[in-house]
Amino acid sequence: MEKEVKEKYDKLASFWDSVFACDENEIEEYKKSIKGDEWKEMAPSKKLFDACLSIANSKKVLDYGCGQGWASLIMACSGCIDITSVDVSKNAIKMLNVYKKLFNVEKNINAINIDDQWLKGEDSDKYDAVICSNVIDVLPFSISKEIIKEIYRITKANSTIIFSMNYYLDEEMRAKKGSDINEEGELFVDGILRLLNKSDEEWTNIFTKYFKLIKLEHFAWLGEKEERRRLFYLKKE
Ligand SMILES: C[S@@+](CC[C@H](N)C(=O)[O-])C[C@H]1O[C@@H](n2cnc3c(N)ncnc32)[C@H](O)[C@@H]1O
Repeated sequence: MEKEVKEKYDKLASFWDSVFACDENEIEEYKKSIKGDEWKEMAPSKKLFDACLSIANSKKVLDYGCGQGWASLIMACSGCIDITSVDVSKNAIKMLNVYKKLFNVEKNINAINIDDQWLKGEDSDKYDAVICSNVIDVLPFSISKEIIKEIYRITKANSTIIFSMNYYLDEEMRAKKGSDINEEGELFVDGILRLLNKSDEEWTNIFTKYFKLIKLEHFAWLGEKEERRRLFYLKKE
């Protein structure tokens, strides 16, 4: 990794690790309050929930950049028995291990705290489906492109690959927000890379170098008025 990219990357990786930090008291409180079917409410939108269900019957699934693992938990609680859930954030994986126990799906999910080179060590043609939610659009473009290429390599023919993304900031939105975006589409907040701003068409062009585009859906998080976030369903042929 080039020095400049590494600097950007290290900052954003520690940002996300801090987002997922949870102290022991919070974990104990959460354990007490859980009833058992909260996994049904964990997806930030119904379309994301449905995306998880659409691959939950796949044999071997990868949740890449899983965070605290809501997608993995939905798939596991819906019957998927072989999920590999990976993230560079130690704190995210720690929380996923707590949730796995609470929802009684410890055997279904292998949660791993990885480094950024992990994909390179995975066997080719290994997975039947991949979900990668809100990861490649928060990374330096050179790293995102490498992740897409590696996901192509490690999936079997006919696999379904789902990428979900933030919304695209068009010129008008950028002017309103006063955001500076470099020519690769990278937007920084307080010096931390928070968005790789690419349009639907740009992402489609990147994905279709490897995959067939099956469907592009737009969705909103709870509380958002417009469905501007993107959900790409791809197939490896
Ligand atoms: C915006 S969060 C999304 C988390 C989760 N997928 C979700 O949808 O809630 C981005 C995640 O990507 C992870 N991440 C950053 N760089 C990564 C890399 N090189 N490989 C895997 N995960 C990475 C972060 O630690 C963080 O958990």
